[in-house]
Amino acid sequence: MKNETSAILKLSNISKSFRGVKALVDVSFELQRGEVHAICGENGAGKSTLIKILSGALQHDGGTITFEGTPIPQMTPERSFKLGVHTIYQENTLVPWLTVAENLYIGQEICFPKTGLIDWKSAFNKTADIMKSLKMNIAPRSFCANLGIAEQQAVQIAKTLAHECKVVVMDEPTASFGKAEIDNLFRIIRMLREEGKGIIYISHHLDEVFEIADRITVLRDGRYVNTFPVKEVTKAVLIDNMVGRSLGDFYDKEIIELGEEIFRVEKLSRGNAVKDVNFSVHRGEILGIYGMVGAGRTELARLIFGVDKAGQGKVFLRGAEITPKNPEDAIKAGLAFITEDRRRGGLVTNQSIENNMVLPSLRKFKNLFVSPKTVRSIGRRMMGELQIKAPDPGTVVENLSGGNQQKVVVAKWLYAGAEVYIFDEPTRGIDVGAKQELYNICTNLAKQGKAIVFITSEMEELLSMSDRVLVMRGGRISAEIPKEGITQTRVLYEAIGGEKIG
Ligand SMILES: Nc1ncnc2c1ncn2[C@@H]1O[C@H](COP(=O)(O)OP(=O)(O)OP(=O)(O)O)[C@@H](O)[C@H]1O
Ligand SMILES: [Mg+2]
Repeated sequence: MKNETSAILKLSNISKSFRGVKALVDVSFELQRGEVHAICGENGAGKSTLIKILSGALQHDGGTITFEGTPIPQMTPERSFKLGVHTIYQENTLVPWLTVAENLYIGQEICFPKTGLIDWKSAFNKTADIMKSLKMNIAPRSFCANLGIAEQQAVQIAKTLAHECKVVVMDEPTASFGKAEIDNLFRIIRMLREEGKGIIYISHHLDEVFEIADRITVLRDGRYVNTFPVKEVTKAVLIDNMVGRSLGDFYDKEIIELGEEIFRVEKLSRGNAVKDVNFSVHRGEILGIYGMVGAGRTELARLIFGVDKAGQGKVFLRGAEITPKNPEDAIKAGLAFITEDRRRGGLVTNQSIENNMVLPSLRKFKNLFVSPKTVRSIGRRMMGELQIKAPDPGTVVENLSGGNQQKVVVAKWLYAGAEVYIFDEPTRGIDVGAKQELYNICTNLAKQGKAIVFITSEMEELLSMSDRVLVMRGGRISAEIPKEGITQTRVLYEAIGGEKIG
């Protein structure tokens, strides 16, 4: 039986405000050896703030931190690291222009004892060993800038394994993972748990939380709500605790009549990433695109939108060729691309919410000068529509919680208006309540006769939203499944290449 003495870490009555915004009020939390402790809560509930205090990235205003029985009056990143706390942040913290091995050992270089010179050979070898134990095929000498998001997450996890640690904190580690990567991550987490480490796991995916956690602590509006042993709580009770109200079952999309074909892609190809892709979408239709990580879905979206140049192929809107040479062309033609990666493609993070919102729509205004008053009222309206949690539209995006940043990405494209919307993992990092709002927004766009391409790795979402599903594998469309044929088994079967399931 676990008891008080096995607690590695205790946070008591922690408070934190940001210029008047109360991010945490009197929050207590305890982590034991050999347990996976999940923290759940809506966007802006204070989850990331709590773990930033633990890692020394932020200083708390009130309360105490106790590590293995010793009070730590001031936590700094160095102290936290020395105590053995390793954090994988929601935002990518890798240095893009360094190699994988350099990122793993940055600041903690392995040196030859005599000369003090950095022993890069063993750093590269150790990195290769860690990647092998993670079953990740990532070369120690690759530059992080060239890795996909899932691979970058894996490098961050590898970083925690490269150094001795007692507590591993993961803030939405699986946000861009497919099924295989998640299974692999859980294998590693169980390994860490066996070794007696404490793991703090933050996720909006309740299925994952129920699979991996031993206990769950719920935060709401910066306050502690409850802690449950996972065996003593149901999903419904957990959600009620998170949102403070009852939400219905999974989203039940209404049926919308389809109009004429509006969008078509012909023979789109780029190297090995995308091969001879053809499809069309009708007005009012939501076309789901599913596939494993690396199947080419994001690459396809980037080609359509002109972010990358296609080697071959054409894009048509209302029967006329519009093949965009760059995103500018795509926006002008009437496409919108809501990306999964808010840092790289979605937002100017040191700008305000309102400025980010009007960014793709500047052309809409007759003269290029837009009055601050107009911008403010647009900001306010869109914040309301998507329930973005921030003091006002002038708040700098950097200071928003991860999920609220994602909502700003969606809001800016909605405001811009388009004929065809390409969503790429739009609900990544978004909480249960906001997901339903986003589904409503998609449904409304469809009702207005827009066409929607919906790329997602979330099975429930794919099944409930799609009028038709394309499955991608190895850069190609491996199957097209009509509405009546869409089932989880069928979709997975096509995605992994016809292997038998179950
Ligand atoms: N640097 C900052 N300046 C101002 N406000 C901040 C700052 N960091 C966080 N906040 C605010 O504190 C609150 C809690 O944010 P936090 O990032 O901890 O939420 P979260 O639970 O991690 O949400 P998400 O699920 O969206 O990641 C939010 O209202 C956020 O806007
Ligand atoms: Mg967060």
